[in-house]
Amino acid sequence: MSATAPDAPPPAGRASEAEVRARQLLSRMTLAQKVGQMTQAERMHVSPAEVREFHIGSVLSGGGSAPGANRPADWVAMNDEYWAASMFEEDGRLPVPVLYGVDAIHGSNNVLGATVFPHNIGLGAACDPELAAAAARITAREVLATGVDWTFAPTLAVARDVRWGRTYESFSEDPAVAASYAGRIVAALQDASDGSLGPDGIAACAKHWVGDGATTAGVDQGDARISEDELRRVHAMPYRDALEASALTVMVSLSMWNQRRCHAHRYLIEDVLKGEMGFPGLVVSDWNGIDQVAEDYGEAVAQAANAGIDMFMVPEQWRLFISALTSQVQSGAVPMERIDDAVRRILRVKAACGLFGRPRPAQRKWSNHPSFGSPAHRVAARRAVRRSLVLLKNEDGILPLDPAARILVAGKNAHDRGSQCGGFTVEWQGVAGNDRIEGGTSVWEGVRAVAPHAVLGEDGSAASGSGELPDGAFDVALVVIGERPYAEGMGDIRDPSPVRPGAPRMPAGPEDAAGAETLQPYGQSLELAALHPEDLAAIRSARARGLPVVTVLLSGRPLVTTRELADSAAFVAAWLPGSEGGGVADVLFGKAGFRGTLPFAWPASDPQGDDPPGDVLFPVGYGLRYSC
Ligand code: BGC
Repeated sequence: MSATAPDAPPPAGRASEAEVRARQLLSRMTLAQKVGQMTQAERMHVSPAEVREFHIGSVLSGGGSAPGANRPADWVAMNDEYWAASMFEEDGRLPVPVLYGVDAIHGSNNVLGATVFPHNIGLGAACDPELAAAAARITAREVLATGVDWTFAPTLAVARDVRWGRTYESFSEDPAVAASYAGRIVAALQDASDGSLGPDGIAACAKHWVGDGATTAGVDQGDARISEDELRRVHAMPYRDALEASALTVMVSLSMWNQRRCHAHRYLIEDVLKGEMGFPGLVVSDWNGIDQVAEDYGEAVAQAANAGIDMFMVPEQWRLFISALTSQVQSGAVPMERIDDAVRRILRVKAACGLFGRPRPAQRKWSNHPSFGSPAHRVAARRAVRRSLVLLKNEDGILPLDPAARILVAGKNAHDRGSQCGGFTVEWQGVAGNDRIEGGTSVWEGVRAVAPHAVLGEDGSAASGSGELPDGAFDVALVVIGERPYAEGMGDIRDPSPVRPGAPRMPAGPEDAAGAETLQPYGQSLELAALHPEDLAAIRSARARGLPVVTVLLSGRPLVTTRELADSAAFVAAWLPGSEGGGVADVLFGKAGFRGTLPFAWPASDPQGDDPPGDVLFPVGYGLRYSC
């Protein structure tokens, strides 16, 4: 591990250049400049002029926050302006390049026309870290095409309760699987593994430290009531690999560990992550995460800074943060050494990224590169889709389908590129429908391309069984069902009553009696027939025509699908495959075999109470092959 304690002698090699530059700059900075570097504001709430005036160290896009018409050129132009503002030279002002961060968690997914890869759960099903690394390399290029330097990825959560709305960001419930991806993805994103950034790299961010996947009942931002041994053995495990590969940044979790907020957890951040594990990079807080630390804002800022947070994601309230942190330093509540350590880390990351040497965004090699969303990138994403599919049932060898067959394609998810991409695509919560996912193919479009006698049922769904499509006209039905897009707490399966005060971001639910905003969950049951009764109806309607049914489920997690399985001759878990639905068709027609296995146990019944799903229908690792 390339660890560097703050006051240790600088390491040799390229990392040492970063260290030297960081130390030199730090010695010339005022408190205002240092606090500015520690501040990360959201683009909607900070102008380039403010970046210049307040020495803002980083700007981010929250999910769905995009400049102009949301094309790479709009992003490059915006980044160019922020960069120029940060590099403005005048008396007493030290130019330090701004670091821009986005959630590129399955491709450069904020931007229209990007190649969208399967969410992590699908990559985990593929059991192929090299495939994930290939996806990460393309993601880095499509992020660089927008002039951005930093992605808040990979998510290294080990989700232990699939009711959690972020289950799809998790590779597996098995920490060893998540760990096997962590280092490969970090190295691929950063295009190096020596603590610097290669020419085709962007800074990675391992998140969310730590135990975000361990919360009771899978409640987003909830409490992980687990022992330290379990926290280390399961949830910290993938971070070791990420740090080994020199992940430059780590984001803190909005969750708690045994009722203590991770954002104020000095032991977890300073002692374990930075001390014991020797993490030399920067620790960034999550969206308004420090607000939950203490009622008094100044105190919250002091606790979080003293816990070891270096850069503060304070999207809207950055002015308040700057004055609060400044006062806490002046009063002695936050020691100057802590500020210096934080800023040294930030500058070291910026130097390691080569930001001081990179030309302005508009003049960078990859900016506006034509490979963004290109056919070559989409071929790689389609390959990832093919590898991620898990076959759960295949009665009488009904799969693979014959391209010459008369196929009735039905189900609400059959022709919906937005739903197959899921959350964190164009918008924070994702977008249903086809309009805003440019390029790529829905599952139906993939089927249509190879099966000339396939017909899409009315409205993409034959659920109504209106009889417009004559009986006897088909050999088989392909019914594509599943979840609608969601992200974070809005994907939770839980009681809608408020479970946490918190740091909600838009769109938030109504306020509860105590005035706390709550995030509305996706539903209250893991049972698909309860969440989407129209899906079972679509399967049954096709069966009522006398057709054998091949069901494809698009979802961010395993669901209780006992009834849908019983009524289907074949059943495929396709996760959230992203923009290239053609990859699903490739496997359905046998152009490629099924290779995926379950990264999470498939539940047999809806879990009740706090315990994770206990009854297992299919275990982790299950997955049929065509040869079976
Ligand atoms: C999420 C993070 C994300 C951040 C910035 C937060 O709500 O928890 O995973 O990186 O927003 O968009």
